[in-house]
Amino acid sequence: MGVRRPFIAGNWKMNMLSSQAADLMRTLDHGFSGEDDVDIAVFPPAIYLRDAVKLLSNSTIQVGAQNVCWERNGAFTGEISPAMLKDMGVHLAIIGHSERRTIFLEDDAMINRKLRHALDEGLMPVLCIGETLSERNAGKTEAVIERQISKAFTDVPRDRIPRVTVAYEPVWAIGTGKTATPEQAQQVHRVIREWLGTVCGEGKAATIRILYGGSVKPENARELLHQPDIDGALVGGASLKADSFLAIAEAALY
Ligand code: PGA
Repeated sequence: MGVRRPFIAGNWKMNMLSSQAADLMRTLDHGFSGEDDVDIAVFPPAIYLRDAVKLLSNSTIQVGAQNVCWERNGAFTGEISPAMLKDMGVHLAIIGHSERRTIFLEDDAMINRKLRHALDEGLMPVLCIGETLSERNAGKTEAVIERQISKAFTDVPRDRIPRVTVAYEPVWAIGTGKTATPEQAQQVHRVIREWLGTVCGEGKAATIRILYGGSVKPENARELLHQPDIDGALVGGASLKADSFLAIAEAALY
């Protein structure tokens, strides 16, 4: 991981009722010393963001949104803008999660608009990319990754690129219990870092955090997190329990 401080992000997806969410945040806050050399963030459902910011106001645990709109305001029923997130004290947002891409039909163009607008508004995006199983089996992993990342960053000013965290999440590993091997993950992370290097220079690319996501658990975290280009994890299922999420954060350190 070198110069990059590890980042462990918990994507809660559409889980938990408000009291459970509050309990989990309290337990995390209690269990995370904050002095550790790792950044932690939780991404609760949008309806709990206000409570989350309040509850974690004295904590070093950061709060992020799972999704964000590409517009500032207007007739976009059901959507939440970056300005609204910031107004609530939320500065991180996941963009382009594979569930958004496949279930809610977000395409590369929409993700590009979201990324550009989030950056315009000063948010810190976590951009997700990843191949499906059939794409991997067809030997297209690198081509898919390069397509998704280059489309997402189209017309993003070079100096803003380092504000983005990239999450490599092979679709076949999300919620399936199947994990990319550390070698498979490292290989794709290297491709991502090289791509970033060509657009914003190697020095800048070396500062950008690239997270791995897809069935990360305490049992597999350590090996993944100690690959040279893996700087943290985007954790779904295992982020819903304080002990497993904190164990993953700990695995980043030792
Ligand atoms: P998972 O989800 O850890 O449950 O596989 C990861 C994600 O979708 O971000």
